[in-house]
Amino acid sequence: MKTLKFPKSFVWGAATASHQIEGAWQEDGKGESNWDRLNHTPGKIENGDTGDVACDHYHRYKEDVALMKHIGLKAYRLSTAWPRIIPNGTGKVNPKGLDFYDRLLDELLSNNIIPFVTLYHWDLPQKLEDKLGWRNKDTAYAYADYAKEVVKHFSDRVTNWMTFNEMPCSANLGYKSGEHAPGLKESNKIMNQVVHNLLLGHGLGVKTIRGYSKKKCDVGLAHNGAVVAPQTNSPADIAAAKKAWAYLDLQNQWSNPFWFEPMFKGKYPDAVLKSKDVPSFTPAEMKIISAPLDFLGINVYSAGVVCADKNNPAGFKKIPYPKKHPKTTMNWDINPDCIYYGVKFLAETYKIKKFYFTENGAAFKDIVTKDNRVHDKARIDYLRNHFASAHRLIKDGFNLAGYFVWSLMDNFEWQKGYSQRFGIIYTDYKTQKRILKDSALWYKEVIKSKEVK
Ligand code: FCB
Repeated sequence: MKTLKFPKSFVWGAATASHQIEGAWQEDGKGESNWDRLNHTPGKIENGDTGDVACDHYHRYKEDVALMKHIGLKAYRLSTAWPRIIPNGTGKVNPKGLDFYDRLLDELLSNNIIPFVTLYHWDLPQKLEDKLGWRNKDTAYAYADYAKEVVKHFSDRVTNWMTFNEMPCSANLGYKSGEHAPGLKESNKIMNQVVHNLLLGHGLGVKTIRGYSKKKCDVGLAHNGAVVAPQTNSPADIAAAKKAWAYLDLQNQWSNPFWFEPMFKGKYPDAVLKSKDVPSFTPAEMKIISAPLDFLGINVYSAGVVCADKNNPAGFKKIPYPKKHPKTTMNWDINPDCIYYGVKFLAETYKIKKFYFTENGAAFKDIVTKDNRVHDKARIDYLRNHFASAHRLIKDGFNLAGYFVWSLMDNFEWQKGYSQRFGIIYTDYKTQKRILKDSALWYKEVIKSKEVK
């Protein structure tokens, strides 16, 4: 591969989420979250793992920020835990919860690392889950009140905000397949309402951040759309991939139009409006949901592949990956085109000012060798190829402003517990010792030179 130069202003970062790294699940007044509840329900999480201690980041944040500094990160994407700040979901604010993020943010800023803060990365106060969670519209308003407290308190130091992380996962994995908290399997009608309530939460979040921020700020969200790549570079396959990307399946809330049409056009697709499962909403809510954003963050790990198909009225055919296609330990097929097409179709379809990759990375079997290192060549190759795909976007004139590697460190991978290592830093869960993997050292060079070789 030839050397690829990235712009000077490109934001190189890494990402984590509160529940996956903090631990301290009952400390300093933190309330129980929906994930704490799921973790403590036998049989729900691989190996019976829990997020009770996770990476103990709550106590080790200084050491972790020092490692970020060592790698040379320009920015760090973190999330605030709602149950740490408002333990019961609504009402009383927990000052000690705010204190933790005060300490963390101050540490980041004194090391010249820009914080990108996500207000909701899946840990809902259990008290709200008890009141139907995202099936209840009130949760969107409770979220706005929580957002207000966070923004009032931190917006002197935080100017990059994300309302939500991956709403499609909250909806589909939480309320349909039941793999994620709260672990339910709801009807299509209820699912559409969950989608709407999350979108409303997002819109109210945007309004709240803009209304209460003490400084001029950038507001967006981290989203995971259904990403589709063409089988070949032929115009017919590319057009087919775009059709598949825009395809609406009324029984499948992963379909992009469920999310993007309300967010960017202020309207549900006609087919949703005409269906028997149409959610309850008001025109005023649609206006809130479609408030303009400063950026869209994309979380992407793989892509579905399609080719053109004249025999299918939808115009495309899904091509399965060959059995031997390289995969990560998540069983996700590796396809760097997910980066390029993850932005291209969105940028061509909607008016979006700026993009970031707010998550991309890979889980592999990492081993600490006798030299006390982790030689994760597979992860370096993965990142190199995905960065190259990002470079292609920049070359083609798309406004891609930065890239956050998932993840800064190995952490609690939801229902998979600690079985998946995504970090560029290795976490020894017995001792909480961290080791910079070779990928972290490689990334350090990329950031320093602004070049991918
Ligand atoms: C994303 C989540 C993130 C992490 C990665 C692997 O869906 O946002 O928390 O679990 O997947």
